[in-house]
Amino acid sequence: MSFDPRSTPVDPAATAALARHGLEYRLLDPADLEAMHAWIEAENRGFHHGRPRDVDRAHDLSVASERRVHGVYDPTAVDPHVPVATVDGWPTGLSVPGGRSVDAWAVSAVTVSPTHRRRGIARALMEGELANARNTGAALAMLTVTEATIYGRYGYAPAAKAATVTVDRRRVHWVGPDAPGRVQFVTAAALREAAPAIARRAVSRTPGEIDRWPGILDRALGLVDADGDAARSIRTVRYDDEHGQPQGFVAYRITREPNQPGFLEFDFLVAATDDAERALWRFLIEQDFVSGVRGRLRSIDEPLPWLLEDPRAVTLSDLADHLWVRVLDPVEALGARRYGAAGVLELDVADSLGHARGRFRLTVDDRGRAEVERVEATDAAASGQSLALGVQELGAIYLGGVRPSLLGRAARITERRPGSLVLADRMFAAERSPHLSIWF
Ligand SMILES: CC(C)(COP(=O)(O)OP(=O)(O)OC[C@H]1O[C@@H](n2cnc3c(N)ncnc32)[C@H](O)[C@@H]1OP(=O)(O)O)[C@@H](O)C(=O)NCCC(=O)NCCS
Repeated sequence: MSFDPRSTPVDPAATAALARHGLEYRLLDPADLEAMHAWIEAENRGFHHGRPRDVDRAHDLSVASERRVHGVYDPTAVDPHVPVATVDGWPTGLSVPGGRSVDAWAVSAVTVSPTHRRRGIARALMEGELANARNTGAALAMLTVTEATIYGRYGYAPAAKAATVTVDRRRVHWVGPDAPGRVQFVTAAALREAAPAIARRAVSRTPGEIDRWPGILDRALGLVDADGDAARSIRTVRYDDEHGQPQGFVAYRITREPNQPGFLEFDFLVAATDDAERALWRFLIEQDFVSGVRGRLRSIDEPLPWLLEDPRAVTLSDLADHLWVRVLDPVEALGARRYGAAGVLELDVADSLGHARGRFRLTVDDRGRAEVERVEATDAAASGQSLALGVQELGAIYLGGVRPSLLGRAARITERRPGSLVLADRMFAAERSPHLSIWF
């Protein structure tokens, strides 16, 4: 997908809101290296990271050049060239139930300098990103969050969870099937060639995964600073199916103290088939002289416990509301996914920012395909099954990770007619739990 980050206008509302505080909202040109380097410094500082090394700066620059990058500048600051706030965004597909994807806008790098907090900068930036998303035709915006209290006010809600999976090596006895293909070591550079195609297929199997993540593979495979200590500890293996086709890979590292068994950790296991997923897990957990295995940002629905004689060898921790979704265009968003049951349901959506506000009729056929139309509040069919909900609740149920009836119990969705929540539960059910396996 080619994307010109500067092709849409700078949001006039954000510009005006920041100007009222004497601040300048600027869209950066990736070719303006001086400005980009200052922006990268500010972003690292905002996230409490150390100053970037040259190698990290070069990587961040290549990533940022594929995104739409904004900075906020204070002309009265000692160094007015360093932004006092940062944000970036880019268009990407988000996998939805049914194996398709919806046009989405990923938001990242939200920081405000500690010298400029609590004067509305984050609000201006977040509302600006919603405008950017609309301008590129995205049906929704999304982000991953470090704090869960910030983004609800802009209409985002947690829609896909992730967890850390830990396996006690001593209790591992594999009872699952043998994979028909093979796992083999490959160099990170060779894997980098095959990985995007494998990842694209893997992403389409799971609602909640995103299909365009500039730069993340280089980081995960240890290619950003290949001679650095962290990268040198990374091992990369690939699973090829019985026809020799690459279907999955994992990048992992083993740490160990002298005379002690090691501990294996990984952040990035990508599988385009169930065989690949099982084979890579088995490779990881059957290693000798290893006491345990830990995978981060894994699905809350791993098949792993069902592949072992002792399912208690597997524990989940750090359960997190990982992917947050903000619906902007309910017709497009609801129409993009497949549904678990046929039916007609009206959704009366409240949205204080206006983007998703309205009443929408969702008509799903026997094959789970939807037709979505905006209807008037007085329309006769409003006497059918109907829910009143906010845009946050719509985002939460969108990928099938939260049952509408749960939000009914929490008094966050109101059913206009008895039975509407039961119907909504069946309709919004997804074929597998939504999951996002990366930070962005
Ligand atoms: C979080 C952060 C972006 C907020 O920036 P800010 O410019 O001070 O926020 P604003 O002044 O625009 O405030 C917007 C709203 O968010 C609220 N808010 C701000 N920071 C918050 C926080 N850390 N937790 C909860 N609410 C917060 C404000 O009270 C305000 O609420 P209101 O609009 O309902 O009155 C900023 O504190 C920051 O850069 N933190 C470090 C980096 C970070 O955590 N980024 C987020 C990554 S997920």
